Amino acid sequence: MRRKLVVGNWKMNGSLAVNAALLEALTTAVGTPAAASAVCVPAPYLGQCQAALTGSTIGWGAQDVSSHGGGAYTGEVAATMLVDFACTYVIVGHSERRAMHGESSELVAAKAQAALSAGLTPIVCVGETLAEREAGQTFAVVGEQLGAVLALLSEAEAARIVLAYEPVWAIGTGQTATAAMAQEVHAQLRAQLTQKQAGGVQILYGGSMKPDNARELMAQTDIDGGLIGGASLKAGDFLAIIGAAS
Ligand code: 13P
Repeated sequence: MRRKLVVGNWKMNGSLAVNAALLEALTTAVGTPAAASAVCVPAPYLGQCQAALTGSTIGWGAQDVSSHGGGAYTGEVAATMLVDFACTYVIVGHSERRAMHGESSELVAAKAQAALSAGLTPIVCVGETLAEREAGQTFAVVGEQLGAVLALLSEAEAARIVLAYEPVWAIGTGQTATAAMAQEVHAQLRAQLTQKQAGGVQILYGGSMKPDNARELMAQTDIDGGLIGGASLKAGDFLAIIGAAS
């Protein structure tokens, strides 16, 4: 059985003081749960997370990475820099970056490969908009997004990613995909991964996952955990979701 994984995506939230309180609350109470867990934080706070989380069961990572190895790319952060802060994970292709920063599936694929080359685990995000779902294009959209990544990666690389299905209409809206709706998409993503000999990859669900719906979502055959936005900023809620994953 695949181990469950719960990852918090803090997005562009936090401050040194606010993070210190959240990290303290998390490390005090998390213990050794059945599920793996991590937080993906704004890059300036990676050092703070490294200091606070080393020795705990909670890992950490970033929310984006450059596809380039280094050089004249003002504002970008290289994968090797994330490794300097002992990151395990980096999110790539979040829908907010695809929509607001024009990231193509090909760029997301290159970022995933840059992360893998540095020894990081990329959490590759895919998901359809409401208009795409209503037009019956869900499978075509997520299939294209994952397909571009699988086209670039070798089989060995593909087996090392984490995939996250995040329907755009469910992010930050309080509107969650039903467990059955999410499972249907996860099963198709699993089939696509299997064609690349990567069927064992963890597939997370993201989009308004909260303590009250986490257990049912993560009980689905192909849902191996969660990528949590808003609820990851509240220690009690994030810990409850980690506890619901077993
Ligand atoms: P919410 O949990 O706030 O809906 O955000 C989900 C998300 O985008 C995680 O990456």
